Amino acid sequence: MFGLSRLSLRLGGVSRRHGDRRLIATVVSGNKTARQVKQRLQVQVEQIQSRFSGFRPGLVVLQVGDRDDSNLYISSKLKAAAEIGINAKHIRLPSSSSQDEVLRTVLGLNEDPEVHGLIVQLPLDSDRLMDQDLITNAVSPLKDVDGLSCVNAGRLSRGELRDCFLPCTPQGCMELIAQTGVSVAGKQAVVIGRSKIVGAPMHDLLLWNHATVTVCHSRTRDLPDQVGRAEVLVVGMGRAEMVRGEWIREGAVVIDCGINHVPDDSRPGGKRVVGDVHYASASQRAGFLTPVPGGVGPMTVAMLMQNTVISAQRFLQSQTRT
Ligand code: GUN
Repeated sequence: MFGLSRLSLRLGGVSRRHGDRRLIATVVSGNKTARQVKQRLQVQVEQIQSRFSGFRPGLVVLQVGDRDDSNLYISSKLKAAAEIGINAKHIRLPSSSSQDEVLRTVLGLNEDPEVHGLIVQLPLDSDRLMDQDLITNAVSPLKDVDGLSCVNAGRLSRGELRDCFLPCTPQGCMELIAQTGVSVAGKQAVVIGRSKIVGAPMHDLLLWNHATVTVCHSRTRDLPDQVGRAEVLVVGMGRAEMVRGEWIREGAVVIDCGINHVPDDSRPGGKRVVGDVHYASASQRAGFLTPVPGGVGPMTVAMLMQNTVISAQRFLQSQTRT
């Protein structure tokens, strides 16, 4: 027999109640939204190519070392770029590279007119001492399609959203929230995690979209209480299934940025991927919930593609102005 709650989950559409009158979350599909974004970008790239005789937006993914998880993320970025018509290149430097070698590579790519987007895949997998902030800040703000440089992060923190590149994961989360039809303006939003790549920029984006935002982190004392107040909850802390359904406010929009591998003998490879939210219990309380996998992950990739196309368009505009 299938479980009743499993049968009651729906992709898209409105939430339903079943026999015991409990709310069952609507699943917010990142796969579906990412596909739509990529289709739109593909059309835009075709238009750019026909207008500027064969011009292609260019993206470089710079990797230091050879982490398995990074290799997986990079291959999905390269695949998406190929589908859209973006000219993507993967440069891998050995783990033994010095910080100066990495910096020189970044500075060289900053000068290359065929590169419109440049990202340094994180974390760096290096045998040497590396200042990750120094390296991400060496990327030209004009090509920083990850939105991780101080210039872009500073603009976002000041609410200058049009002038910066928005970090891909938080931007993807905002798109998924938009899919629910729930406006964040005036809502109580709670972000769990304060990383530069997810939590901190997520706070900024929610704030400048007029939510009242609380950021929780490893020293937050009353996490379940904070979670319980959230009408919009974004979780990016990297702890498998830590947020329990019982904590969640009924009807909340819950966006799970976690990608965690947990042991599972029943699966080929002996593990499976779960989010930071305990999905089964959260689906009994939330109004909307993103799955893992198939939620935020594909949106991060789609937003990277979008930023790259925007950067290429800005480049073309700067060329036609001179
Ligand atoms: N590592 C995990 N996610 C990301 C991302 O969005 N950008 C970069 N550069 N590295 C990552």
